[in-house]
Amino acid sequence: MTLETQSLTILYDALERLEQGFKDLPAHDVDVDMDGLRTVMLEVAEKMHDNYPYHHPMYAGQMLKPPHSIARLAYMLSMWINPNNHALDGGRASSAMEKEAVVGIAKMFGWEAHLGHLCGGGTIANMEALWVSGKLNPGKKIVASEQAHYTHNRLSAVLNLPFQTIACDARARMDLNALEDALKKGDVGTVVATMGTTAAGAVDPLSDILDLQAKYNFRLHADAAYGGYFVLAGNLDADTRLALDRIGEADSIVVDPHKHGLQPYGCGCVLFKDPTVGKFYKHDSPYTYFSSAELHLGEISLECSRAGASAVALWATMRMFPLKRGGQFAQDLENGRKAAISLFEKIQGDSRFLTALRPELDIIIWAPLAGKASEISHRAKEIFESAARENLHLAVASFPKATFESAWDIEWDQEQVACLRSCLMKAEHLDWVERIGGILMP
Ligand SMILES: Cc1ncc(COP(=O)(O)O)c(C=O)c1O
Repeated sequence: MTLETQSLTILYDALERLEQGFKDLPAHDVDVDMDGLRTVMLEVAEKMHDNYPYHHPMYAGQMLKPPHSIARLAYMLSMWINPNNHALDGGRASSAMEKEAVVGIAKMFGWEAHLGHLCGGGTIANMEALWVSGKLNPGKKIVASEQAHYTHNRLSAVLNLPFQTIACDARARMDLNALEDALKKGDVGTVVATMGTTAAGAVDPLSDILDLQAKYNFRLHADAAYGGYFVLAGNLDADTRLALDRIGEADSIVVDPHKHGLQPYGCGCVLFKDPTVGKFYKHDSPYTYFSSAELHLGEISLECSRAGASAVALWATMRMFPLKRGGQFAQDLENGRKAAISLFEKIQGDSRFLTALRPELDIIIWAPLAGKASEISHRAKEIFESAARENLHLAVASFPKATFESAWDIEWDQEQVACLRSCLMKAEHLDWVERIGGILMP
């Protein structure tokens, strides 16, 4: 068995408890066509075979991590209610759970006061942060590193704000000289610092960017969609630690519970340090908010209907795994990083491979040794395919020449090189490093 199913028995108990809350209602039985359900469900299960095994430690490719059983159960339980966190009328309990969970995330970054909410994911969360930035600095540029998620460029276009890419250094982090050159022009409204890049898990030098903020006065947005939870990890290198320790000094933060927060997809979070930015969300809905003078989450979010189930799942997960340093949740992140360092060091010690970027979080990048960038790229794809035949699932990512030019003595016959990439996001990956290494380095 590779899928966890034993926890399902608890769902029945929880459903019974849920039912008790509605016992005053007249009986209302829903007829279900059990044969039809069974036929279709088994067909669905067959169809779902056409997936990489994301839930298994031998899946060590893209940023994909299964939700924890508690998140899955809480999400399923709430499906019998299907709350909508747009307004309290649609989900009182789940709205309260969302507020509590978001307070917990804000506290993780050291914020007592804040404005924030859950949303569909990192893209919409970043869009809200950039939208508020644009309101505060109309017409001014958004800048982000060339390793920032491509969504920032595209979202700036959606928001009709100018966008500029800032070059990266040899650690795949935002280059401070390139940033200062852009700032000197005086037209930058917002700097996006990526706290864990999508490709390499590189963490932009937030502490130095804050020093530049004191000089050039821009709004600082931390895209910590991937790396935000690593503030809790106790085994980071000093410069990564320094950057993450100062994240609370940013003006807005995005973190994705559906990446490292053990949640199913559909759970991002945006936080603003200054709660008064809530004024930009103001609207007069003639039909939504009539049941309570208390805050409805739809009053402070761009999305209207939202899955209350996401909030229920996140609340339950944070109840079971509080966001505290040294706790189980933090230790699991630490294990992912340990696994990444351990596999990286094995590959580094093997003359058949090229490495350069020491993992800052839990993502590793490496490439097969060859004389030219084109050959490396070709062989990286071959390894990706041959590993998959042995049930080890990796990913491939392209990097610009500038990332490896100083570290690798190769012929640059093309401007980009495709490397192998592995996100060791599961705590269990630590126990699988030997086996994974054995397949990669027979
Ligand atoms: C740093 C970063 N920002 C934003 C996003 C976009 O998030 P989502 O895919 O949840 O919309 C990602 C996704 O990988 C990311 O890694």
